[in-house]
Amino acid sequence: MQSTDRSRVRSDALVVFGVTGDLVHKMVFPALYRMVKKGVLDVPVIGVASSPWTREELQRHASDSVQKCGAADDPAALARFLGLLEYVSGDYQDPETFRALGKALEKVSRPAFYLAIPPALFETVIRGLGEAGLSRQARVIVEKPFGRDLASARKLNDTAHSVFPEESIFRIDHYLGKEAIMNILYFRFANSFLEPVWNRNYVDSVQITLAENFGVKERGSFYESAGCLRDVVQNHLFQIVALLAMDPPAYQGYDAVHDEKAKVFRAMRPLNAKDLVRGQYAGYRSEHGVAQDSDVETFCALRLFIDSWRWKDVSWYLRSGKNLPVSASEVLVELKPPPQRLFDDSDPPPGEGRANYLRFRLSPNSAVALAARIKSPGKEFVGEQRELFLQNEQQGEEGPYERLLTGALSGNRSLFSREDAVEAAWSVVDPVLYDHNPARPYDIGSWGPKEADSLMGPDDRWHNPSPE
Ligand code: BG6
Repeated sequence: MQSTDRSRVRSDALVVFGVTGDLVHKMVFPALYRMVKKGVLDVPVIGVASSPWTREELQRHASDSVQKCGAADDPAALARFLGLLEYVSGDYQDPETFRALGKALEKVSRPAFYLAIPPALFETVIRGLGEAGLSRQARVIVEKPFGRDLASARKLNDTAHSVFPEESIFRIDHYLGKEAIMNILYFRFANSFLEPVWNRNYVDSVQITLAENFGVKERGSFYESAGCLRDVVQNHLFQIVALLAMDPPAYQGYDAVHDEKAKVFRAMRPLNAKDLVRGQYAGYRSEHGVAQDSDVETFCALRLFIDSWRWKDVSWYLRSGKNLPVSASEVLVELKPPPQRLFDDSDPPPGEGRANYLRFRLSPNSAVALAARIKSPGKEFVGEQRELFLQNEQQGEEGPYERLLTGALSGNRSLFSREDAVEAAWSVVDPVLYDHNPARPYDIGSWGPKEADSLMGPDDRWHNPSPE
């Protein structure tokens, strides 16, 4: 699918704010190295951060990152990548930092500024770029979370628009660059068999689980300002909902996809406290950077409705949590049973889910499975539950950061979130960000607090993805 964006001019430098941080070390450097190796990155990469490092220290840090993630398989490409690095050190509040950056960009006319920094600093840096006159013909790439509620997202959008036009703003949600998630869009609209049943007449419920079998690790203080709802639901899970729920794009172009996704967010019914169960794993309050009386949720489960012609009254169940039994994410689209029961066993035994469903396995591996009942050999009309399983994986596939940064540098906005969609998504969660029930404790390695079951309709139950 092509972008209709006509301003597809390549950026001639990448400036990474927060270059000494964790995100850059874990995800961004390996992605940049792979881009150099493929020949899609050959422009200066200028790191900015407050640490008084030298260029050599940054190069050592970047080299360590690439080695640690096991990607350093091409010494010549690694040398080329390290050769592109430059470093500017300074405080983001200090105009001098932006003057020094301006000097480093003297030979550059179309830089891309990537803000891999704490969200509280986004506006400071955007303003600093504007005031230093560095935003002309430039792009800005903003990490998530984009705002922490509707009001702050609007304010951030206003600040960003006072410096950059919307077509130069690239809001990252790395889930949009994942192969398995891009496949939802492709699978839905490259096939014709799905569309007739993809609506309230045939779909009973949809559920999405994003489970992680680890805690907040060293990100306690970030997590305290976010919580599960802001960290992964309002963005990652909602993006998956939008791809599953959207109407067919009206034409071949990503603007059409963005339009349809924004309509889904607008049709979502704003959440109510009784639609949400929040949980906190045992021991969270002892994590580094976490308040001893913290009520921040490390788990959330919610029931969502999309008040559109297509989805009226269909329940969408979303769930995510840290320290659950497995690390895996899946979507389960459960279809209604046949209208008449012609075989005694045509429904699976109680508590075993539905006979017909479509399952999208999103991580750690990618697959699509269609479940059906099939007659067992013999003269009786009895059957069993089977899955038609389509594996969709390739070794060494392009990672989300590589895909997104390559897109942003060439002005391709397909995989980035648009202003109206981000704000509409915040409008859905806004009512429960502050007005909610206390977080319920749950044991590490469990599927979260048992109260999450109470969100389910009488015939529904949570589907727990398997580890493999
Ligand atoms: C990030 C969240 O956006 O997504 C993390 O901040 C979460 O808390 C992560 O662990 C999950 O991403 P992935 O790609 O590992 O599924």
